Amino acid sequence: MLDTLNPDDVARWRRDWETMMRHYQPGRDDLLAAGLAAAEQLLGRAPERVLDVGGGPGTTAEAVLRRWPDANVTVLDVDPALLALADTALPQVRTVRADIGSPRWLPPAGGPYDLVLALMTVHYLPEDRVRDWYAEVQQLLRPEGLLLVGDVMPDAPGPTRQQSGGTDPWTAWWTALAEESAMRSLLNARAVALSGLSSAEFVAPAEWHRQAAHRTGFADATVVHRWADHALMAFLPLRDRR
Ligand SMILES: C[S@@+](CC[C@H](N)C(=O)[O-])C[C@H]1O[C@@H](n2cnc3c(N)ncnc32)[C@H](O)[C@@H]1O
Repeated sequence: MLDTLNPDDVARWRRDWETMMRHYQPGRDDLLAAGLAAAEQLLGRAPERVLDVGGGPGTTAEAVLRRWPDANVTVLDVDPALLALADTALPQVRTVRADIGSPRWLPPAGGPYDLVLALMTVHYLPEDRVRDWYAEVQQLLRPEGLLLVGDVMPDAPGPTRQQSGGTDPWTAWWTALAEESAMRSLLNARAVALSGLSSAEFVAPAEWHRQAAHRTGFADATVVHRWADHALMAFLPLRDRR
């Protein structure tokens, strides 16, 4: 039986999460705002059904709901502790625990969706798996749907990012969470769920993502927003699926 979380504590941890994520994704707020505006423009309307892949504690889902209060939003993640924060903060959101490391994530993900988002998530997958993931996402999208991917996408190929040593903001956030007694059982569940998983820290230029997605049937891709090495790309399914 997992402990009930205090909503005020959860609100604080999720605020701290956003502060931490802004460190790793500079320009994050502008990037997301540009992505949601582009989605509305490309779809020609507000999306009815939205899936946030690797949505963590649901802070992006919250921004989605601020813009589109009537949207039906699903947050999918492998991490039960982060999903518990999303559940507590956003009871109107459906949360799904699934591992995108294999195609087995597709049935629990549900669908079809008007909009699928993945922010700072695909770099967890190795290169071949990212290619397959683009193909799999199409199975979840409505023919006129849209995929938004935001991640490190330098203009030129560069070395794969290394894990940083010392107390980086990510480690500091998780260390602070581990000091909260209410999180104990969830963090135990997390340790089991994530055992054997690690981030591939895969980094590729936007052009690599455009080609990988195109090979799996996405018709077109555009960089909606760029901030230094970070980009947000929009992918449209093939027109003949529309
Ligand atoms: C850097 S965090 C970004 C979270 C969220 N998208 C955001 O921008 O705040 C990466 C997220 O991807 C999730 N993730 C990593 N590997 C995953 C996998 N194999 N399956 C599902 N989710 C995964 C993590 O649990 C984490 O919530």
